[in-house]
Formats: sequence, structure tokens, C-alpha cells
Amino acid sequence: MTKGWTKQDWRAKPRIQMPDYPDQAALNAAEAQLAKYPPLVFAGEARKLKKQLALAAEGKAFLLQGGDCAESFAEFSADNIRDTFRVMLQMAVVLTYGAKVPVIKVGRMAGQFAKPRSAPTEIINGVELPSYKGDIINGFDATPDARIPDPNRMLQAYTQAAASLNLLRAFSTGGFADIHRVHSWTLGFAEHDKAERYRELSNRISDALDFMNAAGVNSDTAHELSRVDFYTSHEALLLEYEEALCRIDSITGLPVAGSGHMLWIGDRTRQPDGAHVEFCRGVQNPIGLKCGPSTTAEDLKVLMAKLNPSNEAGRLTLIARFGAGKVGEHLPRLIKTVQAEGANVVWSCDPMHGNTIKSSTGYKTRPFDSVLREVREFFSIHKAEGTIPGGVHFEMTGKDVTECTGGLRAVTDEDLSDRYHTACDPRLNASQSLELAFLVAEELTALRAGEKRIAL
Ligand code: PEP
Ligand code: CO
Repeated sequence: MTKGWTKQDWRAKPRIQMPDYPDQAALNAAEAQLAKYPPLVFAGEARKLKKQLALAAEGKAFLLQGGDCAESFAEFSADNIRDTFRVMLQMAVVLTYGAKVPVIKVGRMAGQFAKPRSAPTEIINGVELPSYKGDIINGFDATPDARIPDPNRMLQAYTQAAASLNLLRAFSTGGFADIHRVHSWTLGFAEHDKAERYRELSNRISDALDFMNAAGVNSDTAHELSRVDFYTSHEALLLEYEEALCRIDSITGLPVAGSGHMLWIGDRTRQPDGAHVEFCRGVQNPIGLKCGPSTTAEDLKVLMAKLNPSNEAGRLTLIARFGAGKVGEHLPRLIKTVQAEGANVVWSCDPMHGNTIKSSTGYKTRPFDSVLREVREFFSIHKAEGTIPGGVHFEMTGKDVTECTGGLRAVTDEDLSDRYHTACDPRLNASQSLELAFLVAEELTALRAGEKRIAL
């Protein structure tokens, strides 16, 4: 990818948000161990994802990226993986119907363990402690001991990621992902009293499947209906972990991050001369770049040149996360920068990270209506600018948690304490996620109708 680049080069660059491990010998040992383990993904898969993202940049595919804010060791179970996978598949069917293009499914899964934090310490019950930085770095328990960064946690994270990915691969091809099963779960959701608005679209999908079946296209005759491609992604924050899993692809001879198919750079660690950009620029995987209100045109220009010097299609996804009411102020100026550079990017919308508030009951939450409003602003600005909304990025789970407020089975501020399980930011629950997919599908349908009118 980048001549002369080596996977250690980030070490000479300024780094932020990364832990200072107190035990250097233990760190060295953990890195050496990890470097001997097999990579979790194969470079050919990352290249395949990149090809699909190239289509999303042109509006010929649509990206659905979602999963936990932070995966945790405590919440690791087959049920949790299955439930998130299941709701993502349901969302993908609904979005495919709305967009009439393939939906690329990318989990924030099997590696999403390290978290940037807004402050190095936090006060819990009146005691100041080092901040929790994700299970791959330190422990969630509110004790000084738990908060010491422990490099052996990288090995546990690797093991959990490997087992998660193994199950995801099995679900993807073993029959679980059959479109008829997936759609039958969605029909169950649409039966809810308050889901009337979504019933018509669900019934139209049923009709389409019935028609195909009658025409002889079903899971037995078309394997596309019984299996899916599912990819993994995470924020490339903990560079010791990323370096140890970075390998040379035997087919192209180029470096590839072996920790997941797609990596992204967070809004806090996207300094053009920083360690995170330095690492990501050298690996051939698709790269996401979070763009928040403080992203300047100048920085974006430099970042695009560094991360995608040959302007390769599908390489770079810009993940806009401004907050409802702020998209109009920031997205058009960044779109102009992309156009001025002639850069090939996928535009995706993360309507989560700009919409976090503190509820009246003291919980960190996100109102469903703000999330939806940001998505709609994202679509309407792309329409006005004549550019392509290529995807969405959600923090979500398949479980029935109470972390974000609102939705058709309305979660109130008072409900938040019932099932608030996230290790970090509040996630949409299964019902809120699927409802949002229906609403995004409506946006995509409207977009297609507009395109058709223009073509006539
Ligand atoms: C995240 O995606 O969990 C995250 C921290 O996002 P951002 O970098 O956009 O704040
Ligand atoms: Co988050």
C-alpha cells in the first residue's frame, strides 16, 4: 500500500488515548504471544469488502454498520452475538427492500473493545479513578486495581474475538441467515399494535418473497437467499494489539490488519500526524474516519491524501457524527472539500455520538427522535448537494435493553434503570434498531423515487 511503511512506525508518532502500561515486561510478552497467533481475518475478505464499499460510494450498495459501543468480557455469550446478528439481518432485509441495492453488513463486533474517553479520570461515588478504557485495556469495576492497564487483557480480547467471529461465520452460512426466517421475525415485530406504519412494507417484502418462490427462486435454488456475507469492524485504538495482528498478505505482498475486516479512526484520534493515522494508512483494509463538528476542511484534505493516496474506491468511508441540528452546519463544507479534492469516499451517518445527553434520571442516553432527526438531515443534505448517502452506523444490540429513550415501545427516562447494561455508550435495543431500519428504508425509497423523476 504505502512504500517504506512498517507496522511499528506509529511508535515514533504522538499518541493519545492509549494506555501507559506499568509493566513493560508483561507488555512485551503479551505482544510477542499475540504476534504468533493466527490473524482473525483473511486479506481477501478485506479486499472483497472494499469492492462492495466501492459500490456503496456510487449508490449501488448501502452500508449497515452496527453493534456494541464496547464489547465486554462479562457480556460475552452466544445469545448476545446471535441476537445482535439477527437484528442486523432483519434491518438489512428491510433496507435492501427500501434501497433496492445490496446491503453490506458490518458488525461492530469481534474486536470492538478499546474506548477513547473524554477525560483520563472519572469520579465514581465520590472517588476519582482512572477512566475505564474498555475491557481490552482495564477493568470496569470501580476500584484502583481494576483500572490499572493490563496487557494480558489483549490475549483475552483476541480469544473472545476469535470465538465470536467463528460463531458469526457459522451463522452466516449454516442456515440461520435464511431470508425467509429473518423476515418471519420481522413480521412478528410488525404485528405490534404500534407498528402499523411498518406493516405495509413488511407485507410487501412477504409478497416479493412469495413471488420469487413461485417463480422457483428460493433458499434451495438460490444460495444468496440462505446465506450472507458478514464483516467485522472496530476502532483501531489500541495500536499494540493492531500491530501484533498486522500481517503480510500472501497474495498481494501488502500489509493487512488481521484483527478485523474494517478499521476506523475515532473522532478523538484522527490527528493527521498522530499514531493512529500512521498505522491505518499502511494497511490495505477499508478504513473508516469519524468526522465530527471539529473536523476542519484542511484536516480532512490531509487525511484523505494520507489514508487514500491513490484515491482507491471503497478504501475510505467518512462517518459523519455531528448531532441532530448540526448536520447542516458541517456536512456541506466537508462535502465541498471532498468534491474539491475529487476524492472517492463512502458517506456514512453515525447518528449516535453527537446525540448523547444526560437523562433527568442521571443516565447517559440518546433520544430515538434525535437519532432519527440526524439521519434525516444527513439524507436531505446529500439530496441538496447531489451526493450519495452511502450508509449508516449504529450503536445497537439485539437485546431488549433500556439505554436509549423513545421508539414505538417507548422507553422513558424512568425506564432507563431497568436494563441499562452497556459497558460504555447507550445502544438502541432490538425494537428501536428495527424501527430505525424501517424509517431509513423510507428515506431510501424516497431517494430512489427522486432519482427516477430526474431520469424521466
Ligand atoms: C465510537 O464509535 O464508539 C466512538 C467513540 O465514536 P467517535 O470517535 O465518533 O466519538
Ligand atoms: Co460509542
